[in-house]
Amino acid sequence: MTDLPQLELDLMAAIGGADDLAALDAVRVSALGKTGVVSGLLKGMGAMSPDERREQGPVINGLRDRATAAIAARKTELEDAALEAKLAAETIDLSLPARPRRKGSVHPTLQVMDELIAIFAEMGFAVAEGPDIEDDFHNFTALNFPPKHPAREMHDTFFLKPDPETGERKVLRTHTSPVQVRTMMSQTPPIRIVAPGRTFRKDSDATHTPMFHQIEGLVIDKGIHMGHLKTTLTTLVARFFEVDDVQARFRPHHFPFTEPSAEMDIRCDRSGGKLTLNTGEDWLEVLGCGMVHPNVLRNCGLDPDEWQGFAFGMGVDRLAMLKYGVPDLRPMFETDVRWLAHYGFTAFQAPNPASGLS
Ligand code: DAH
Repeated sequence: MTDLPQLELDLMAAIGGADDLAALDAVRVSALGKTGVVSGLLKGMGAMSPDERREQGPVINGLRDRATAAIAARKTELEDAALEAKLAAETIDLSLPARPRRKGSVHPTLQVMDELIAIFAEMGFAVAEGPDIEDDFHNFTALNFPPKHPAREMHDTFFLKPDPETGERKVLRTHTSPVQVRTMMSQTPPIRIVAPGRTFRKDSDATHTPMFHQIEGLVIDKGIHMGHLKTTLTTLVARFFEVDDVQARFRPHHFPFTEPSAEMDIRCDRSGGKLTLNTGEDWLEVLGCGMVHPNVLRNCGLDPDEWQGFAFGMGVDRLAMLKYGVPDLRPMFETDVRWLAHYGFTAFQAPNPASGLS
């Protein structure tokens, strides 16, 4: 027979002697855990005769209850002591100078992206997205870049290490145009999307950074022609620069994924180091565009005899620089809060065409 009074004395001594929570828990497990002594006694009651059980039951249960209560009380004591010690160790020096006022702000690139999205949303465009790490098919092949074509080199592509099994080399997307491909392959026309996002090229100087932002646009429907493209883009640019109208020209260009292709320029004046739109004899290039090449439509499973479309792409950072007078591209990605405070926009005023864009 276990000497219950002695067991209780030992238990209470162990509980009182536990000087941290881990030690206390070890005592609890040894007494009340699945294979603990007290649990063993409780289990043993099953084998007792009814008389024995009537006598021993209350004694064992009482022991269990007193041990449980003692453990809980000790736990509170230990926790209180730990808190006291922490409070004593942590002091607040009220004589320290206050922190400068911290105020987050929106980066001009994101501000401009939001402005563009707001304008496009009003025109009925949805936002589409794609991955930053692309495969050759979406970034080049489907967009009608022939294999080994110098245009692939022109893009100064960042290649990832080849996959050890397939040998496939993924790329950091060099433009947002792969989102066109993904959209055409996953949706049925009519399609009207814009795809804002990060793009990457091995290039770094005053006007190029290895990471930059583009916004891509794609419209696919029946009977789409250059007139739709021109109206959409002149409206967009006028709204973006917050002028009534823009004097634009569409200068022939080449992109593998559009035919015909053009670059859109706005009339401007740069005299005195200041840029003024809609006057003067200079032209400011703002975006690339064109009618979606029939090969691209075919590569994406669309029949060019049935569907036509136009597409465009523009550099968002550059548009932000133009609109908000940022002279150098590089500080845009140096994460200097002073720069951000100078150019940043409040996060509490999202651009929308009704209350104003900027
Ligand atoms: N992807 C082109 C670039 O990065 C930009 C562009 C030009 C996109 C014409 C288009 C387009 O969708 O039609 O230089």
